[in-house]
Amino acid sequence: MRRKSINDLLSGSEDRPKTLGLFDLTIMGIGAIIGTGILVLTGIVAATDAGPGVIFSFLIAALASALIGLCYSELTTTIPSSGSAYVYSWITMGEQIAFFSGWTLLGVYITTTATVATGWTGYVASFLKEMGIVLPSAIRYDPFNGGFINLPAVIIVLLITILLTRGMSESKVVNDILVLVKIGIILLFVIVGAFHLKPANWHPFLPFGVKGIFTGASTVFFSFLGFDALATSAEDCKNVQRNLPIAIIASLTISTILYIIVSLVMTGAVKYNLLDVPEAMSFVLISIDKPIIAQIVSFGAILGIIAVVLAFLYASSNIAMSMSRGGFLPPIFSKLNSKTKTPNRSLWLIGIITAICSGLLDIKKLATFANVGSLLIFFLISVSVLLLRKQHPELKRPFKVPGGRILPILSALVCIVLLTNLPGTAWLNYLGWLAIGVIFYFAYSKSHVTY
Ligand code: ALA
Repeated sequence: MRRKSINDLLSGSEDRPKTLGLFDLTIMGIGAIIGTGILVLTGIVAATDAGPGVIFSFLIAALASALIGLCYSELTTTIPSSGSAYVYSWITMGEQIAFFSGWTLLGVYITTTATVATGWTGYVASFLKEMGIVLPSAIRYDPFNGGFINLPAVIIVLLITILLTRGMSESKVVNDILVLVKIGIILLFVIVGAFHLKPANWHPFLPFGVKGIFTGASTVFFSFLGFDALATSAEDCKNVQRNLPIAIIASLTISTILYIIVSLVMTGAVKYNLLDVPEAMSFVLISIDKPIIAQIVSFGAILGIIAVVLAFLYASSNIAMSMSRGGFLPPIFSKLNSKTKTPNRSLWLIGIITAICSGLLDIKKLATFANVGSLLIFFLISVSVLLLRKQHPELKRPFKVPGGRILPILSALVCIVLLTNLPGTAWLNYLGWLAIGVIFYFAYSKSHVTY
């Protein structure tokens, strides 16, 4: 339960060049947040859980994310370290919870990236199919789903890893372009779809009642994951105290607005019960007889989803680097490249593990723990805000969650409510990951951790 001093934890963090301004951070946030969630989950949740009321599911998930986002903002501006939750919990709750947080974050980010990369293959395959090219099953699916390797997913993960090892300046230009394309296709979908709305499709608005809205909220919560990844950029930010909180809230607000408009258009253009398909956006466009726009949107989605992979690989390598600095992982992973000042060994470690997961494993089954892990971390984040205020009242807090203790407590309660709505299998998978972590902790970390 030994806690670490703040100064110790921040040493080493000043070595990295400050390359990210407010625009880059907001774009990076949107890049991480908007991805397979809106592109794949919206239709399915509307069809099976919430009906057109899926917009309320998005609103609830957005409110929860905003509360947690405020807590992140207070912590990351008070302790600007790329280790995010792992660092905050070492300072407030001690070594074992710190390891538990870091390990959970690594698992969540790696499986989220692999899930997104696998979803990306789906988009690539259907895009190519429309053009008459059929990807052979052997290189499209993992061995658990009738193939040999999910090659497109492996390639994209490794390419983005290479890009990130070349430094933040290059990565951010590519990221900015990808995100602008992604916003562009979403707006295109909304504008074209808006001319084909049939209000009758919104009746009944809540076919599955209020319960359906909450079940939907727990699922679409995945669509908001990514705002937390921004906190891991603290060491690369210019004026972190001002820019990071604004970027977290701005990227959440923009994403929420886009999600709500997209779900309104989707359920207004096509009856909700027909939307049970993974590529709902292009399905809607084809249904309203706009096949060319559907192809453009699919192509944009292919580019846009890459930004999610980029943001999450970046975030998980930062966590690995921080854990290595603390001694939980071997020291080699915190070495920065002398030219680019990026943690290249961490990037390769994470990149290769993620590529293996997305290429060879049945990632859909494994990744169910992403929501459990994230919500547990968010619960710890909310509690850390309260603990840090009590343990270190002297620290300068450039951003403070308004309203005293009320919002952090509310944030912790919301996490508990959402956690109780998640399926048992997700918990089991999470416990499996944790068990591996416990072995690693006692076999390596416990004897190497530094104070
Ligand atoms: N929020 C990210 C997505 O929806 C993980 O793809």
